[in-house]
Amino acid sequence: MIQLTSETKALGLLGHPVSHSKSPQMLNAAFSYHRLPYVYLAFDIAPDQLKEAVAGIKLLRFQGFNVTIPHKISIMDYLDEIDSVADAIGAVNTVIERNGRLIGTNTDGKGYLRSLEVEMGISVDQESVVMIGAGGAARAVGHALVSHGVKQLTILNRTNEKAEYLATHLSQWLPSIQVGTLKDGKKILENATCIINTTSVGMHPRIHEMPIEADWIPSHCIVSDLIYAPVKTALLKAAKAKGARIQNGLGMLLFQAAIAYEQWTNQIAPIEIMRQTLQK
Ligand code: ATR
Repeated sequence: MIQLTSETKALGLLGHPVSHSKSPQMLNAAFSYHRLPYVYLAFDIAPDQLKEAVAGIKLLRFQGFNVTIPHKISIMDYLDEIDSVADAIGAVNTVIERNGRLIGTNTDGKGYLRSLEVEMGISVDQESVVMIGAGGAARAVGHALVSHGVKQLTILNRTNEKAEYLATHLSQWLPSIQVGTLKDGKKILENATCIINTTSVGMHPRIHEMPIEADWIPSHCIVSDLIYAPVKTALLKAAKAKGARIQNGLGMLLFQAAIAYEQWTNQIAPIEIMRQTLQK
């Protein structure tokens, strides 16, 4: 880390808990690489402390901060402005300080899309995507897909009403979104070129669970799972066995931080330096 001085600017993460987070390692390594006068710390803030924490951050003139579970929605009440991306997603993961004002944005969806482009070499305007899930993560990924011209989108979810609700919300960018429940998965997945799991199914400790059946995965497609613990979910193992190309959630974690870094510093993020800290 570069030397801390009276000119050093603070950044941080507000969450509850935060002890597992790799964001401090990732971002401090990037600041060091560019010799930028920033330091990034993690703060464990309970929900009933959030308002005071934001007031403190403002007073101390932080350059900005990240927000994680459980504050991504409630933080919106305490910011001066919410940009159009965070507004469309309905959640904030990054805050930028400008002229004493705190502006909320969301880099999750864009970060995910960049991970698909960089790690899998695909552009979504060529892809027929089936997105599994319709919760908060699906909202960020779905918004990024439709606002970047995805060729075709189908939302598959356990609960039909939630899939319908998300499709209706996203229809302002793409009118022709199809929906289905997990039971319809076999037919719907036949024509998919890219399958994205945004649900928590398969996450540690229930590592043997899968949101769809292995037989339904077409061998020619890409299967991407937002989960990174475990690094290879049962879904990804099954997809690989079928001959599909696979991606885990570490890419999204990396690129959402890279985009936040770029917004705070106006410098291109040193991706490989950041990736190394994630893999440690
Ligand atoms: P997040 O913010 O992480 O996306 P969420 O908003 O609670 O979390 O959404 C979780 C998603 O995982 C939902 O799509 C949920 O399906 P429902 O809408 O039917 O609840 C899906 N999900 C969670 N557990 C599941 C399970 N055991 N089987 C299938 N889908 C599941």
